Amino acid sequence: MTTDSANASKVGAWPSPPHATLLGATPANIERCAKALVQGQLVAFPTETVFGLGAAVNQAEAVAGIFKAKGRPADHPLIAHASPGFDWADGWIQFNHSTQQQQFEALTRAFWPGPLTLVLPKGSRMPSQVTGGQDSVGIRCPSHSVAKALLCAAGVPVAAPSANRFGKVSPTRAVHVMAELGDRIPWVLDGDIPEVGIESTIVSLLEKSPRILRPGAITAQQLGEVLGQPVEGFIKSSALQNNPRVSGALEKHYSPDAKVRVITALGLGEFTPVGSTLCVGWGDAFLTRADALRTRHPHVMVEALGNSPNEVAKNLYATLRQADELNCSQVLFEQPGIGEEWEGVADRLKRASA
Ligand code: TXA
Ligand code: MG
Repeated sequence: MTTDSANASKVGAWPSPPHATLLGATPANIERCAKALVQGQLVAFPTETVFGLGAAVNQAEAVAGIFKAKGRPADHPLIAHASPGFDWADGWIQFNHSTQQQQFEALTRAFWPGPLTLVLPKGSRMPSQVTGGQDSVGIRCPSHSVAKALLCAAGVPVAAPSANRFGKVSPTRAVHVMAELGDRIPWVLDGDIPEVGIESTIVSLLEKSPRILRPGAITAQQLGEVLGQPVEGFIKSSALQNNPRVSGALEKHYSPDAKVRVITALGLGEFTPVGSTLCVGWGDAFLTRADALRTRHPHVMVEALGNSPNEVAKNLYATLRQADELNCSQVLFEQPGIGEEWEGVADRLKRASA
């Protein structure tokens, strides 16, 4: 694939010789990328959660290329994405019992398109290469307008993990994808900044009681209301610890190079920062103390995120990357609030700081 030098100069430096072409989300470019997917090429694209690194599920070489580009172990399953209205039951998934089908229908009606991945028994058309050899598959229908248009034009499910190198921070900007994978994939499609900012909530429908495998913007309470039965919050359930196949379940994940510490406002007041430090907070008490620290220590920087779990999630990954861009040796991140709506942020910070 040729390099578009005009675009390359816009996005700055990446580690190896640039390879990817960064494309604006025009209808013609979306069409071009859909064709590339169908022909077996890799395309990174925006979703409302994070950017995904896509390959058509029926293009074995391209799917293998995802694992290679990311440096991801081949037994870690991928999520398959499709546009609204796609007929998953046409051989891509199957239902083992009617309750499962009812749960699937209720949840997709309520939350699709959107940041919810459902794990179901895989159908015969879904290659086991996509599922890491498991007999279940994670499927999702994103709400981002560019993702919807791309998936609709491709017409086939697209396997897409987050478009970062394995274990690193997920990308929420096209430039982040260029920086991490620009030397190893041909196409990066740009688009509006992901509204959610952390990966989708993953819910397994394999057992009678739906289980959250990864917390995200859609909470256990919201799921429970739609299903008419309680769903256990992620922190309470030990589900993740028991499932080594979920790569986000690895202790250390979503990590920048800077050391991440999660700290309360009180803790920050007693902290003596050594080395260049980025303080990231959302509450007044924390930010006041961070500002006081900055006046005493010239190597301290402060970043204020919005004052709600959704705003913190939206800016979380870009802020962790910013710490590396600023050559910080550490990030002092304000401890997330209490309550289910903070579970997604709390989970990502726990892994970033492990
Ligand atoms: O928001 C998202 O879900 C993003 C965007 C691009 O859609 N994708 C994403 O993919 O986060 P990835 O590969 O980074 O994370 C997928 C997670 C992994 O932890 C994987 O183990 C889990 O989904 N997963 C996929 N299929 C599964 C299955 N059959 N059983 C259990 N976990 C599964
Ligand atoms: Mg990921």
